[in-house]
Amino acid sequence: MTGIKITAADIRAMKSRGEKIAALTAYDFPTTRLLDQAGIPLILVGDSLGMVVLGYPDTTSVTMAEMEHHVRAAARSRPRALLAADLPFRSYATAADALANARRLVAAGAEAVKAEGGREILDQVRAIVAAGIPFLGHLGMLPQHVREENGYHLKGKSEAERLKLLADAQALAEAGAFAIVLELVSPRVAQAITRQVPIPTIGIGAGPDCDGQILVTPDLLGLQPWYQLKHVKPKLNAAAQIQVAIAEWKQDLQRPAG
Ligand code: KIV
Repeated sequence: MTGIKITAADIRAMKSRGEKIAALTAYDFPTTRLLDQAGIPLILVGDSLGMVVLGYPDTTSVTMAEMEHHVRAAARSRPRALLAADLPFRSYATAADALANARRLVAAGAEAVKAEGGREILDQVRAIVAAGIPFLGHLGMLPQHVREENGYHLKGKSEAERLKLLADAQALAEAGAFAIVLELVSPRVAQAITRQVPIPTIGIGAGPDCDGQILVTPDLLGLQPWYQLKHVKPKLNAAAQIQVAIAEWKQDLQRPAG
């Protein structure tokens, strides 16, 4: 890739070159700038925002106003990376809602939008794509449905789930999605989808054989030791380092003079 702006078409083309797509989340100006400077081509203002920044128990409380606020902050860093943003829970119940809310995220600075689901949201996907807004799919475990599903469970273990995932992935590709996030999908099924669909798969907890991987950046940096995740090996223990730095500063401040 050159120094010019990365587009959805560039991300899509990485699959045909066999170049692994490294994607990460960001919710603010400095993190977006740091990820961009590290050469991450796809940055997602995810609705994981709800848990990792706003302190909600899951993503279902995140609002459009909260997404817009954080998309604006991330977009102010004017990244070379493609900046995608999540349509939050209940913001894309109809095609008209999906399009109106995708436009709001674009007005805030997003260059692509993501929504969760397969064939049940095809009208929404088609409306977004027809308006010229790049669409990123999300299949497998759908965090916006965590309450109905009573937790975060691996998908694709049964034959029915395998067939559903394959058909949904194919349908999203045909509707014009430029890539699909596969979350907590059985690695064997993620590999099959990756082989069968023409657009990149970007896995999270879906095994090594996707066209790329995405992580929630605070998980990668060890900023949230209170969440134990099987699919992430933190590269840093940032929470502990922050606590040491703060304790040292406090000690220095309170040390008697002389
Ligand atoms: O909200 C988010 O951060 C996501 C990623 C986990 C893919 O959807």
